[in-house]
Amino acid sequence: LFMEIRHPKGSYNVVVERGGLSRLPEYWPLDDYSSIAVITTEALWNRFGPLPGHPVFIPDGEQAKTLEIAESTWEVLYSLGLDHHSLIIALGGGSVGDLAGFTAATFMRGIDVIQLPTTLVAMLDAAIGGKTAINFAGVKNGIGAMHHPRLVLIDPTCLTSLPQQQLASGMAEAIKSAIIGDPVFFDLLEQAPYSDLETVIRRSAAVKANVVNGGVRHHLNYGHTFGHAIEALSGYTMVHGEAVAIGMQCAGRLSVLLGKANESLVQRQKSVCKSAGLPTLVPDYPPEDIVAAMKHDKKRFGHRLRLVVAEEIGRVTIVEDIPDGLLVEAIEG
Ligand SMILES: NC(=O)c1ccc[n+]([C@@H]2O[C@H](COP(=O)([O-])OP(=O)(O)OC[C@H]3O[C@@H](n4cnc5c(N)ncnc54)[C@H](O)[C@@H]3O)[C@@H](O)[C@H]2O)c1
Ligand SMILES: [Zn+2]
Repeated sequence: LFMEIRHPKGSYNVVVERGGLSRLPEYWPLDDYSSIAVITTEALWNRFGPLPGHPVFIPDGEQAKTLEIAESTWEVLYSLGLDHHSLIIALGGGSVGDLAGFTAATFMRGIDVIQLPTTLVAMLDAAIGGKTAINFAGVKNGIGAMHHPRLVLIDPTCLTSLPQQQLASGMAEAIKSAIIGDPVFFDLLEQAPYSDLETVIRRSAAVKANVVNGGVRHHLNYGHTFGHAIEALSGYTMVHGEAVAIGMQCAGRLSVLLGKANESLVQRQKSVCKSAGLPTLVPDYPPEDIVAAMKHDKKRFGHRLRLVVAEEIGRVTIVEDIPDGLLVEAIEG
């Protein structure tokens, strides 16, 4: 056991264990289910399978998060004879986790799901917290449901095959976790970000778990409002973590402009992102376009532009109604 996550309908464990994937039945009573489906990609099944259950293959990456794939997955689950007492196992990155979680949330009004995350992003972010979604009408995560897993089992050995760019994407979220809630972790990342991935998983997952267990969920958006805008302007060609790394530089500069943080915070953030192989320079979009995209995000959520700024490494706060001029200045840095 590593951490317990509590939610209105119960609680579940997040387990971090080398080789844990092959010992899944030790962590959860699989025999109690009428049948089990493992939603994954063919490549991931070939790499990490077999696991107890019928494999159900979905496309790789973001291609999986569509209504068409949700529908075809429901069909396969029916044809395999899954019912109310069945289990879905999600084996893969955040895209598999989101689609499988959404399928589990909706199939027969909701059945159990276990998350087996195989990317760093999924291990320290996507698999924890119960958010599931597909993309719809051009809106990322436009349709979804809250559906907490029964167990999150993280096997750090899965990361040995993960491409460096995907690792770096997760590392951006790890750096964010350290900034919003764990200054000692930030010190560790400053020394050598990739030397001990198990510690990176444990400490970041702990920050996320603490937030889900009653912290301020909005704090997880540090660097994300700027980052999402940049990601959208790139036509989603940019890797999410890279956009977040750039977004954190903007958020850090805004923190300094508002008199909340020292310049040294900006420097430390920048050098840790660089040493993790993450970009820190805002791409060549007009800053006004980035601000417009940030506000578009706001309109979609029907509330005022709320930004997370840092007070120091390990402590953040929320600010509202920042004048456009300051946002532009933070972007231009
Ligand atoms: N639900 C949430 O709270 C939440 C949080 C963060 C992100 N997300 C979602 O997660 C998705 C991104 O997830 P991601 O970054 O894990 O990307 P991903 O799931 O698309 O995986 C990235 C690539 O890595 C491959 N891969 C996965 N595991 C591997 C391994 N161990 N070795 C080699 N290759 C492997 C995948 O097949 C894919 O090609 C987005 O859709 C995002 O919206 C959800
Ligand atoms: Zn993110």
